[in-house]
Amino acid sequence: MTSRAWQDATRVVRAGLPKATPGAPYLPGPVFAAPFHAPGDPAQSPFTYGRFDNPTWSAYEQALAELEGGPCVLFPSGMAASAAVLATLLTPGSLLIMPEESYYTTRVLATQEFAGGWVAAQNVQVVQAPTSGSALVDAVRAHSGRVRLVWLETPTNPGLDVCDIAALADAAHAAGALLVVDNTTATPLLQQPLALGADLCVVSDTKAMTGHADLVLGHVAVRDVSLVESLRTWRTRLGVIPGPMEAWLAHRSLGTLHVRLMRQCATAQRVAELLASHAGVTNVRYPGLPGDPAHEVAARQMSGFGGVISFTLPTAAEVERFFAASALVYEATSFGGLHTSAERRARWGGDVVAEGFVRLSVGLEDADDLVQDIASALSAALS
Ligand SMILES: Cc1ncc(COP(=O)(O)O)c(C=O)c1O
Repeated sequence: MTSRAWQDATRVVRAGLPKATPGAPYLPGPVFAAPFHAPGDPAQSPFTYGRFDNPTWSAYEQALAELEGGPCVLFPSGMAASAAVLATLLTPGSLLIMPEESYYTTRVLATQEFAGGWVAAQNVQVVQAPTSGSALVDAVRAHSGRVRLVWLETPTNPGLDVCDIAALADAAHAAGALLVVDNTTATPLLQQPLALGADLCVVSDTKAMTGHADLVLGHVAVRDVSLVESLRTWRTRLGVIPGPMEAWLAHRSLGTLHVRLMRQCATAQRVAELLASHAGVTNVRYPGLPGDPAHEVAARQMSGFGGVISFTLPTAAEVERFFAASALVYEATSFGGLHTSAERRARWGGDVVAEGFVRLSVGLEDADDLVQDIASALSAALS
């Protein structure tokens, strides 16, 4: 049996591990080095200098490539990965089409920095459209021949809207553009953008990929190997490099990705049903709910619906009471970790959401404990 034929649970446990060698650990520890021994012709040394390459990065990149279905380049954060894609693919005056409600900082990077700001020389033109419905496809068609890059995020953070990756890949390619998908909320285990036709896939490994809320990392997966070189060159020249310790912790965490996600998906489904049935809660969004506007497309392109849910309480005051009454929901930003957490997203500004909008990330606690805790916190908040 080849690793391609293995099920996901097996693939994550074995991803990127070296051949079994007597006396060696299953996963070699992190390698800390600035220079490596490299006599004579540097081309003869696999590793020369710590900003160029590192065996701990390579092992995790190999693991990621096995899961993504294309070569991967590791970055020190999800934003560093996204910035590398924009910087290496856009040229001055390029047209970029992106969602109007995707991750806030990615939108700011494109609309403020690449269209002006620090990377003003790029003078990138940005067209934004809603993720749901046909607006993105329509925008791509309307700019056929001029659009260079189409950026998707599905499911979106924080609104959990979904778009049809395969349909957008067809539209982007017909328009002469490349398609990038930010797959952070789903991870390659629940959704395979490259197999669905995307040219690149960006992931913040800070979230569910690593799942322990203890590191910041990101990666880019590509279908066309020739893009790897420019991403690596960008990483080396700017010095935006991941730490070996983070890369090793990420690789170590990968082995539990499947069990973590399966538990999160199952518990999130129960929590979403509880929220949807609660009289004081509105706008519950979870792609796994049969009545959710995203359900049909999500069921087609995802193998599970993830651990993130959004919902709205009447005002900020009810959300504060919800946090005060809950024993199990940490009030924190980020998502995908093993501890259940949530935040009132409007506290940051930036996202067009109601004051009482909450993004909830379901962790690995016992499902009955969590459902009971959330039910009683809602009763306390809404009484
Ligand atoms: C969808 C999405 N993409 C990218 C990022 C950026 O990732 P990082 O915080 O690792 O830079 C985030 C962070 O929240 C995110 O939610």
